Parts: sequence; structure tokens; C-alpha cells
Amino acid sequence: MNRNALITGVTGQDGAYLAKLLLDKGYKVHGLVARRSSDTSWRLRELGIAGDIEFIEGDLADACSIQRALIKSKPDEVYNLGAQSFVGTSWDQPVTTGIVDGLGVTHMLEAIRQFSPDSRFYQASTSEMFGLIQAERQDENTPFYPRSPYGVAKLYGHWITVNYRESFGLHASSGILFNHESPLRGIEFVTRKVTDAVARIKLGKQKELRLGNIDAKRDWGFAGDYVEAMWLMLQQDKADDYVVATGVTTTVRDMCKLAFEHVGLDYEDHVVVDPQFFRPAEVDILLGNPGKAQRQLGWKAKTSLVELIQMMVDADLRRVGKE
Ligand code: NAP
Ligand code: GDD
Repeated sequence: MNRNALITGVTGQDGAYLAKLLLDKGYKVHGLVARRSSDTSWRLRELGIAGDIEFIEGDLADACSIQRALIKSKPDEVYNLGAQSFVGTSWDQPVTTGIVDGLGVTHMLEAIRQFSPDSRFYQASTSEMFGLIQAERQDENTPFYPRSPYGVAKLYGHWITVNYRESFGLHASSGILFNHESPLRGIEFVTRKVTDAVARIKLGKQKELRLGNIDAKRDWGFAGDYVEAMWLMLQQDKADDYVVATGVTTTVRDMCKLAFEHVGLDYEDHVVVDPQFFRPAEVDILLGNPGKAQRQLGWKAKTSLVELIQMMVDADLRRVGKE
């Protein structure tokens, strides 16, 4: 195929799965990595692809480094997945979140506009932009009402993507992705926090699991399925915006129940609700309508929540067992 891709956030959950997908399709994959004091490539190593990626140092907060990355990689496709992606942290670091998740997108689009206008661009937008939901099932036409500094910053990123498409004719698409998880999910997100704890409790290394609002509902899918939708968006003749979701919503409580049941335990014996994990403002429920992605991209979520949670618990049992 001989195509070049640049992925920001290549060391994250989605970056790792997307890099694998593109490598399997024959792409040369360049990955932007921000300078960190220790190695962040564990996900790429778990997928066995760390040696197959051309790493370029850069930071979304630093426009010069983004320009250099574009010039160096000459990408046909750019996937902007880099972000401060944890909603909870966005109240503690609202400015960093705004710079990286908001202005960082402008850094990417400006660099494309100036140095690589034929590159196709994918922006990692989010269902968190729907926040205080304005429709029972959220789709591309549902008004936004973000409820966190993260959601606000991402909304800027979304609209600047739309604006550069309309202003300069860039092939820039925004994927409004609902929550997606995997064994490579960061430990701070609720599904992985639960599956890691289930493994530890089952293996006698932990007794209780402290959580916040277990009545919150999310539309959870598998990250491996969702990166296919990102790729499909950039294969369309026309750039556009798409909701990517399963169309099923579940409480944190029921997700816990599934995880504990998988190892023969009752979540009620272990879960403790702890106010320290409540958020200053909550997104109570998200439920996506992926009809447009299904019709126009031919995309559909393949993995059920039961399969996803069991896959994650099994992976954590293996990890904790080896410790
Ligand atoms: P993740 O695991 O937290 O990965 C985030 C990536 O961004 C990491 O590679 C991180 O690098 C990188 N990064 C952070 N700050 C950066 C900076 N200043 N410059 C360059 N790179 C930076 O997130 P994810 O779950 O894969 O999500 C991927 C994208 O989709 C994010 O933009 C997220 O906001 C968005 N999204 C995610 C979901 C979801 O449910 N997963 C849903 C909708 C949208 P380090 O490894 O060095 O920290
Ligand atoms: N993290 C966490 N930890 N969340 C908890 C806990 C806990 O102990 N207890 C309850 N929750 C609730 C949160 O309050 C929230 O309502 C829900 O579980 C999901 O939280 P997260 O897994 O942290 O994800 P998120 O929905 O806030 O954000 C994720 O999805 C967005 C898409 O909607 C992230 O991946 C974002 O980057 C992404 O944009």
C-alpha cells in the first residue's frame, strides 16, 4: 500500500491499536511521542509493534515540534489521538488540558494547512462533549453541553476541525467516539480500575474496591473495534463527522457486577462507594446512536460489553498472577 501515517498519542490505548491496524495494512507508521522521564511504550510492546514504529519527538503544546513532525513524516493520513484524556484530572489541570486538547488541535491543523495540505486528518472527539445530554440518544445533530474542562477543551478541538474543513477545504474528520475500553486501558479509568481490582481480589491481593458514582451510565465498546472506524473515516471521499458507539448503555454498577461474576464473586461484598471519587460535575448518562457510521462507513461494534469485560478481567488475572 506504501502509505504514510502520523499518529499523535501513539503510546496511548487507541494509538497502540490504531498503529497495529495500520501496520497490518502495510502503512509506514510515524508516532509522535512527548518527552517523558520513563518509558511509556508498554502498550506497543504488548502488541509486539514497538520496533515497527518511527518515533518522532514532539508535544501538542509545542507548535514548532508539530510542524517538524509533519515535514519529517510527510503523512498521507494524520490521526490526532494525543490528549490529556482523563476527565477527573481536567479539573486539577484545566489549563494544560485546554492547551493540549484544545489548542493542540489548532497546532496540528495549522501545520497541515501550511506544510501538508493534502494530508487527511482525524480528530479524536468525544461523547464527553454531550455532557448534560440534550437528547435521549446522542447523534451528530445533538447539541453539545460539556460538563468538564476536558469536555470544553475537546469541544474547541471539534469545532476548529470543522472550521478548518470549511475554511480551507482540508480533509478533516471528527470522530465523536463514546467510551471504549480494552486490556490496554489506563488503570485510572473505571472499567480497568474494576477489572484490575477483580483480579487482585480473586488472587487474594486486595480486599475492597473504592469507587465514586456507580449509578453513572456509559455506552462502552471495545477500542479494537473503534480504531477501525477512525481509519474508515479517512478512506471516504468527503470528510465528515461521525458518532461511534454501541447503542447500549450500562451503569457502572452493572459493569462491576459483570466483572465480579466472571470470577464467581459478588460485587456487593467488595465495592465501597467513596465520595473522594465523585466529580465536581458529572455526566450521568451517555447513549450513542451510531446509525450514520453504520450507513456511511459500514461500521458496527462487534464486541459486547460482556465479552469486553471478560477479556479485560482475564488479561488482568494473567498480569496480576505474574507479579
Ligand atoms: P490515552 O490512553 O490517555 O492516550 C493519550 C495519549 O496522548 C498518550 O499517548 C499520551 O502520551 C499522549 N499525550 C498526552 N499529552 C500529550 C502532549 N502534550 N503531546 C503529545 N502527546 C500527548 O487515551 P486513549 O483512550 O487512547 O484516547 C485517545 C484519544 O481519544 C484521546 O484524545 C482521547 O481524549 C480521545 N477519546 C477517547 C475515548 C475513550 O473512551 N478511550 C473516547 C473518546 C475520545 P504518554 O503516553 O506519554 O502520556
Ligand atoms: N475513573 C473513575 N474512577 N470513574 C468512576 C469511578 C472511579 O473510581 N467511580 C465511578 N466512576 C464513574 C465516573 O464518575 C464516570 O461517570 C464513569 O464512571 C466513567 O468514568 P471514566 O472511566 O473515568 O470515563 P469518562 O466517561 O469520564 O471518560 C472517558 O470516556 C470519554 C468518552 O465519553 C475517557 O476515555 C475520555 O477521554 C473520553 O473522552
